[in-house]
Amino acid sequence: MKDTILKKFGEVFGDAEGAKAFFAPGRVNLIGEHTDYNGGHVFPCALTIGTYGAARVRKDRKLRFFSMNFDHLGVIESSLDDLKAEKEAGWTNYPKGVMWAFEKKGFSIPSGMDILLNGNIPNGSGLSSSASVEVLIGYILKEFFGFEVSNQDIALIGQYAENNFNGVNCGIMDQFAIAMGKKDHAIFLDTADLSYTYAPIKLEGAKLVIACSNKKRGLGDSKYNERRSECETALAELQKEIDIKGLGDLTEDKFEQYKGAIKDPVRVKRARHAVYENQRTIKAVNALKADDIALFGRLMNESHVSLRDDYEVTGIELDTLVEEAWKVEGVIGSRMTGAGFGGCTVSLVKDEAIDAFTEQVGKAYLAKIGYKADFYVVEIGDGPCTL
Ligand code: GLA
Repeated sequence: MKDTILKKFGEVFGDAEGAKAFFAPGRVNLIGEHTDYNGGHVFPCALTIGTYGAARVRKDRKLRFFSMNFDHLGVIESSLDDLKAEKEAGWTNYPKGVMWAFEKKGFSIPSGMDILLNGNIPNGSGLSSSASVEVLIGYILKEFFGFEVSNQDIALIGQYAENNFNGVNCGIMDQFAIAMGKKDHAIFLDTADLSYTYAPIKLEGAKLVIACSNKKRGLGDSKYNERRSECETALAELQKEIDIKGLGDLTEDKFEQYKGAIKDPVRVKRARHAVYENQRTIKAVNALKADDIALFGRLMNESHVSLRDDYEVTGIELDTLVEEAWKVEGVIGSRMTGAGFGGCTVSLVKDEAIDAFTEQVGKAYLAKIGYKADFYVVEIGDGPCTL
């Protein structure tokens, strides 16, 4: 891939002198969904698929961007003196947002850049292609300009850009999982204080399979922000009765005891998901430590049910993929992953069941939804690197 992107860089920008190649992964969350903006736990991992990039420093303050995934858009130009989000700027709002965020955090970017990207994360799959681009750009800026930032700082700057430049009120999970990724490990992250541990994922005789719904994203982002504010209102109501910082501070029992403080039945459901999902995530990591993969799978299934019934972020496409997966013998667990409203599911599938899984789930999905789902057997990889 390094040679491919450097060659293309030369074609697009005239020559590849001074260009270096980099990579940042995508991510999948195994369990702990919509908990990261509620002070709860998440359990994601970085993937071996992600975003490749080639970049070099310019002598002026110009920015030139090219994506092999959107090659019909050609070279998109901008300037370090004009870092604002614009609809016409399309995908370049992600790299521009990170540059803007570095500047905001006090890291002055001394010169412009030529940047070419090529990602192999399926488009719109919910495997965090945007966070992958953000972390990649943060890493590139650090490498070229020697900014003293850790990978965790790069994650936080990426999230800051997403929130304040691109207007999506996301939590820290995606950028953190990508920036801090470790091969064959998932990250057990407490989003209340960013403490984390790595848990080895040794799947003997089973694999992680992603099923991509290919559902075009619609109102996803505004619904995302809506869920977030429902949780914030529920938290404020609970805080009148109990001293907590986030919904992640509550056990199931405490929630049941105090839920009467929440004045709206929909908000009770949203908060219940956040509380129970956080506890489920802790239980799931314990199950994994105890080598109880069957329990881990059951908790994945329960996570989906809660996202479907209480949080209401699944939809017929993701429900079909998951409910069909549950019918296949050899499926240990299956759930939607990421924000929802489309995107993909993650399933733990025994090696010998993978063919049956893709065939049966694929067939049922096509029959019910009217278009194809795509399946990917994925591996857990490291965080960003220079190639
Ligand atoms: C998106 C956001 C994350 C997280 C998930 C849901 O991926 O970017 O911060 O909230 O949705 O768990």
